[in-house]
Amino acid sequence: MDGRGDSIILIGFMGSGKSSTGVALSYRLQCTVLDTDKLIEKREGRSISEIFQTEGEDYFRMKETELLRELQEEKARHIYSAGGGTPLREENRELLGRLGTVVYLRVSPETVYERLKGDTTRPLLQGDDPMGRIRELLSQREDLYRKAADIVIEADDKNTTQAAEEIAGLLQLP
Ligand code: S3P
Repeated sequence: MDGRGDSIILIGFMGSGKSSTGVALSYRLQCTVLDTDKLIEKREGRSISEIFQTEGEDYFRMKETELLRELQEEKARHIYSAGGGTPLREENRELLGRLGTVVYLRVSPETVYERLKGDTTRPLLQGDDPMGRIRELLSQREDLYRKAADIVIEADDKNTTQAAEEIAGLLQLP
């Protein structure tokens, strides 16, 4: 018995479909979906962009870790959709793993670009060269996502339902 929870945690880059796939999975498994970004926004009473702008990224990362520590107390099974940078910290990777099975939704830079062009809610992708930034961040993060994950789903050409079905199949869910 390793004390691991039976929740499912979706990780991956911004635009990989974690939130929408989380909703599809939660219907299928009849359990709640919790989005770490939304939980942080609710607690802070302001948007992620505002938090980055007024407090900076380090503060936000601290809030992510605090939240993950608190989520360890949750006893029920949930689907978690984790903010794209959550698996960067070693402590967070460990905390995510304790919640349950970690699923990495893997997408290419082109997919992220297509899905998020025009988006203004991701502070890390604002700037003159979003594609360059996406490539840079993805290449820095790829190994960490893989390290955190129990399974990897290639999500480029899948819609939300297909990704949820694949996860359910791989995890042998009813
Ligand atoms: C971030 C991803 C965002 C949000 C914040 C930082 C990241 O979440 O947590 O803007 O570092 O990749 P989504 O992956 O849900 O967009």
